[in-house]
Amino acid sequence: MDEQDASWGGDGVALTPHRQPADQDVETTLRPRKLAEFVGQPRVREQLELVLHGALKRGDQPDHVLFSGPPGLGKTSLAMIIAAELGAAIRVTSGPALERPGDLAAMLSNLTEGDVLFIDEIHRIARPAEEMLYLAMEDFRVDVVVGKGPGATSIPLEIAPFTLVGATTRSGALTGPLRDRFGFTAHMEFYAPEELELVLRRSAGILGVDLRDDGAVEIARRSRGTPRIANRLLRRVRDYADVRSDGAVDRAVARAALEVYDVDEIGLDRLDRAVLGALVRSFHGGPVGISTLAVAVGEEPSTVEEVCEPYLVRAGMLARTPRGRVATVAAWRHVGLTPPDHAPGEPQPTLFEE
Ligand SMILES: Nc1ncnc2c1ncn2[C@@H]1O[C@H](COP(=O)(O)OP(=O)(O)O)[C@@H](O)[C@H]1O
Ligand SMILES: [Mg+2]
Repeated sequence: MDEQDASWGGDGVALTPHRQPADQDVETTLRPRKLAEFVGQPRVREQLELVLHGALKRGDQPDHVLFSGPPGLGKTSLAMIIAAELGAAIRVTSGPALERPGDLAAMLSNLTEGDVLFIDEIHRIARPAEEMLYLAMEDFRVDVVVGKGPGATSIPLEIAPFTLVGATTRSGALTGPLRDRFGFTAHMEFYAPEELELVLRRSAGILGVDLRDDGAVEIARRSRGTPRIANRLLRRVRDYADVRSDGAVDRAVARAALEVYDVDEIGLDRLDRAVLGALVRSFHGGPVGISTLAVAVGEEPSTVEEVCEPYLVRAGMLARTPRGRVATVAAWRHVGLTPPDHAPGEPQPTLFEE
């Protein structure tokens, strides 16, 4: 789904992990520029550092890199950091923008040696463009087809060695051949509250917000493991602090502010709660398919699947089973009902699975 068009309106906007128009400028200001400034994801950071600096040391073009994971966890930031670490220029495009192979051919033939090409939402790339990408990634070559029908000829065109960085919220939607052509794949995990505290402190420093320790703890806890949301909540809490108190953001101010924005104790927003409510009340805790659940809350299945579900699973509220989604004991309690005997306990949060 597009980062721009994904919101479900109303109060929920505060918690959507998708980028909103109002985020744009401030996100540019807050984006970490170097690997060392990038908080959390220690494994991804270390692996990436080895991949990049290994290639730099040998004078090779670094492998193509794929980032997958829910929105707002730092995929775009890392793409830009890769270019910065390599001292390379970055060209940015997205899967939906590459509808015709000609669009991609133009992009590829304009690359200069060592460039980073960033394709966001790469799972949405059209098939012919994707096939062109295979050859480009493997041999730094494209075959440009000239003419139509039996008279068509294909002209091979050399392109400059480059590093492709792809980002996707749905790695399962990538075809095998495309996935295989990335030398390095990183799955981004939700952030631990302590990591989000660091993100918040850094942002508060840049924005000049008087963020107290207990205020940071409170905001981090409610940010759904997502830096983008943490930064957005920080701004909302700052507004509240400026208007209703002396500007300092402590625990009491953070709590009062987040109450106004309908963000609950564990960071669930209205849509999350609607999903849990439907699962428990309309489907007696499931199992129920994701599309049925999405219809019940009036949302796109992709939003429920890519935005709500990963965090609900991570929070131990929802379990995926072969027969569908099931509410856990914690989910029943969270909506204020007594769990039935058949409700499963909290699933292992995916954060700790790997
Ligand atoms: N690890 C991080 N450290 C500090 N800030 C981060 C981190 N990851 C994300 N952010 C913040 O969150 C915002 C959204 O990150 P972004 O890279 O656009 O996420 P994605 O591309 O995965 O949706 C960034 O502008 C940045 O301010
Ligand atoms: Mg992004």
